[in-house]
Amino acid sequence: MSVTSKKRTYARIAQLYDLLDLPFEYLRYRKLRKLIFDGLSGGALLDAGIGTGRNIPYYPEDMKVTGIDICPQMLSRAMHRRDRLGTLVDLYGMNVLDLEFGDHTFDHIASTFMFCVLDDENQLPALKELKRVCRPNGQIHILEYSMSKDPFRAFIMRLWAPWVHFAYGASFDRQTEQYLEDAGLELVSKDYIHLDIIKLLRVQPKT
Ligand SMILES: C[S@@+](CC[C@H](N)C(=O)[O-])C[C@H]1O[C@@H](n2cnc3c(N)ncnc32)[C@H](O)[C@@H]1O
Repeated sequence: MSVTSKKRTYARIAQLYDLLDLPFEYLRYRKLRKLIFDGLSGGALLDAGIGTGRNIPYYPEDMKVTGIDICPQMLSRAMHRRDRLGTLVDLYGMNVLDLEFGDHTFDHIASTFMFCVLDDENQLPALKELKRVCRPNGQIHILEYSMSKDPFRAFIMRLWAPWVHFAYGASFDRQTEQYLEDAGLELVSKDYIHLDIIKLLRVQPKT
């Protein structure tokens, strides 16, 4: 699926996105979103693939946040959320594979459930682009799904996979970590924060 068709997928579901995700948001994601920003403070933060702005309530208060997303309809919902919450967030329509920011613009970067949407061949280019716009001593936090090692859980995830692919253009088992080295990044930590199916990767530019 090309980047253009992902954009179309999200344009189609933007109005329904928060509703479709509601049970997962309340039962699962809400408590995890806080953890993404642990250890990040001060300076400029990029939220890559901000979607409808579900992370907005959890941004560290002392950071100047910029959000980008490829889909204008998702961004428009993020704008409504931002305005309703009275949070200052700059929002731009951009492709993470071709960011219109200078090198080292951001102190830190967060990305939640965007890499599971990027096709395998776009994992490395996206990581390289995030590395380019991140300060050399900054951190990139990536929250992602992972296929369970537990046979029963993996079976349930495989049942869900066709729907997740159709509705969100996403996959549960992107191997984002395997591209870090080639992107010039190193893994600081990898923690499973919901069973063995949602992981938080903390990475940084290689020194
Ligand atoms: C599953 S949603 C996650 C949204 C949000 N981060 C969250 O945690 O709820 C994935 C988001 O990534 C965006 N996206 C997909 N491909 C992208 C790309 N190449 N560049 C920027 N955003 C992209 C989609 O438009 C969508 O809003």
